[in-house]
Amino acid sequence: MGADRLATAARTLLAGFDQPELARFLEEWPAPDAPRRTVEPRALPVLRWLDQAPAVAAAETRPLVDGVVAMAETLAWGQTYAADDFGDRFLERYGWSELIGLRGPIASDRLACGFLLLGPEIEYPAHSHAAEEIYLPLAGTADWLRGREGWRQRRPGELIHHPSRMAHAMRTETQPLLALYLWRGGDLAQKSTVIGAADSRRDGGHDDDA
Ligand SMILES: [Fe+2]
Repeated sequence: MGADRLATAARTLLAGFDQPELARFLEEWPAPDAPRRTVEPRALPVLRWLDQAPAVAAAETRPLVDGVVAMAETLAWGQTYAADDFGDRFLERYGWSELIGLRGPIASDRLACGFLLLGPEIEYPAHSHAAEEIYLPLAGTADWLRGREGWRQRRPGELIHHPSRMAHAMRTETQPLLALYLWRGGDLAQKSTVIGAADSRRDGGHDDDA
């Protein structure tokens, strides 16, 4: 499954949700003739947990999860944070790969879409950004913090919307987390502001959702 097939599988999965917030994102989905980029594959330590993802996927998310597993070695996996931000352990259990956006294989300056992978027993500290965001957990049940709602357990297939500037965080337990992310609105290269790091309370350099 190439990047285009992954994007098509993601788009097909998203088409199954009837949510007004999501419609705004899908309006920005790149046209079939959008420019393509050659992306150099890059691996990360967090990929060691990817093989566990299919077993903790939902029935409807499983085809896309299987696609990511099959394609993982051909994708460019990146990190925005450094050890100074959240520590070495976080970097061993965190990574993302952009499919659509300013750097991914499908070019867009209107929408970013990709995959976030977290290993088990890790917290992605609270952060916020100007871009509006949607997450769709594909594999792994994890705790998600959304604004002032407090921590809530979310299962694969539950769409999560973060309006502009709303603080959000994720916390895995025994399962890894693979999630699809979508960003729209404003400058896709904008930085996130880290709010809730236990050991760091400074601006983070994350320029994409992940
Ligand atoms: Fe975010």
